[in-house]
Amino acid sequence: MTKVLFVCLGNICRSPTAEAVFRGLAEKEDMLEDLVIDSCGTSGYHIGESPDDRAAAVARRRGYDMSDLMGRQVNASDFETFDYILAMDRANLRDLRRQCPAAMQEKIALFLTYSKKYSEDEVPDPYYGGAQGFDRVFDMVEDASIGLLEAIKART
Ligand code: 4NP
Repeated sequence: MTKVLFVCLGNICRSPTAEAVFRGLAEKEDMLEDLVIDSCGTSGYHIGESPDDRAAAVARRRGYDMSDLMGRQVNASDFETFDYILAMDRANLRDLRRQCPAAMQEKIALFLTYSKKYSEDEVPDPYYGGAQGFDRVFDMVEDASIGLLEAIKART
C-alpha cells in the first residue's frame, strides 16, 4: 500500500484538485486498490467546506469529480500515516517541515518535483485570482500527477 497526501493552504483549491486528478488517473491504471489518497490544508480556514466552485468546475470540465471532498487541516498523525506528503508551494513546504518529526522529513517534497512539463517548483495559489488561474493549476496538477503515478509504479 502506498499512501499519498496532497497539501496546500486551504484544502479547497489545489490539493483537492490533486487528490481528484491523481485518484482518477490511478483508477484508469487499475491502481486504486494499492493506494490511499488524501488531501489537507496547512491552515484551518476551510475545515468541513466543499472544494471551491471554480476548482470544482475546471475539474468537472476535465473529467474529474471533486464533489465528495471536504476540507481538513493537517495533523500529527499524517506524518506517520503517509508515504508521500506533497506540498503545492514553498510556504506549504515550510509549514509542513516545521511540524514534521525529524524521522519523517524525507516524506515531504514539493509536488511539482514530479512534473515533466513545468520547470516551476510551485503550484501558484489561485484563490484571489481569476478563472484562468484555476485552469493553470489544473494543468500543472495533472502533469505532476502523471509523473507521480509513474514514480510510484517504478518503485512497486
Ligand atoms: P488552496 O487555496 O490553498 O489551493 O486551497 C486557498 C484557499 C483559501 C485561501 C487561500 C488559498 N484563503 O486564504 O482562505
